[in-house]
Amino acid sequence: MEKKIVVGNMKMNLEAMEIEDYLMEINIMDYNKQVVFCPSSLYLPYFIGRNYEVGSQNIAPYEEGAYTGEISAAQLVSMGIGCTLIGHSERREHFKETDEVVRKKTEIALKSNLKVILCIGETEDERDDDKTYKVLQRQITTALKGIAEEYHNKLIIAYEPIWAIGTGRTPTNIEIEDAISFIKTIVEELWFKDMKVIYGGSVSDENIIILEQIENIGGYLVGGASIDPVRFKKIIEVVVNQ
Ligand code: PGA
Repeated sequence: MEKKIVVGNMKMNLEAMEIEDYLMEINIMDYNKQVVFCPSSLYLPYFIGRNYEVGSQNIAPYEEGAYTGEISAAQLVSMGIGCTLIGHSERREHFKETDEVVRKKTEIALKSNLKVILCIGETEDERDDDKTYKVLQRQITTALKGIAEEYHNKLIIAYEPIWAIGTGRTPTNIEIEDAISFIKTIVEELWFKDMKVIYGGSVSDENIIILEQIENIGGYLVGGASIDPVRFKKIIEVVVNQ
C-alpha cells in the first residue's frame, strides 16, 4: 500500500523568531518524506533540503511577468520547492478564486513540474442542501479539465469540508470514507486511477487515531495543529508509524 502523507498548512502564522524555534523542534525527526511543510512563502527557503517535502500555499495564475507581489510555479521549482496547495477554500473565499482560476493554476503548476494538492470541499449550506457531491464533482471536473493523464501521479486531492476547517468539527469517519470513494470514482471516470485523496478540516493530535481507521484515506491536510510543532509531531508519529 502506498504511504500516507501528512501536509502542514501553516497559513499566515508565526513570525521569524517563532519559525526558528519551530525548525529546531521539527528538524530532529525522521519523516521519511511522508511529510510536507507549507509555511508562508517568506520562510520557504528555511525549510528546503531536509528529510521532508516543502510546499507552497499558493501560486500565481500566470507563468511569469509583470504581476507585482506574485510568485510563479517556475520560481518555486527553481528554489527546490516540490509542491503547492491549490484552491484552498480560504483562497476561494477571501481572494475570490473561481473554479476556472483553480484550473489555470493547476495546469501551470503541473506543467512547471510542481506537484499539486488540489483542495475541494462543500460549505455548510451546501451540505445541508444535500449538494456535497454535486459541488465536489463540479470542483474536480473544472479543475482537471484539459489536464493530460501523464500528470496523474503529480496530483493529490484534499477533501476539506469548509465547515470543518478551524472549527473543531469533523464529519464522521463514514462520511469521510464515502466522500473519498466518490472523489476517487469521479477522477477515475474522467482520467486517473488510484488517485491519492487526503482529508483536511480540524485534524488534531486528539482525533488522528480515530481518523486513522478510515480505510481509503491517503493522508491528512493539517492547519491549526501544524503550527504547534509538538502537536504536529504527535499527528505525524501516529501516521508515519502506522
Ligand atoms: P484546520 O485547517 O486543520 O485548522 O481545520 C485545515 C486547512 O485549512 O487546511
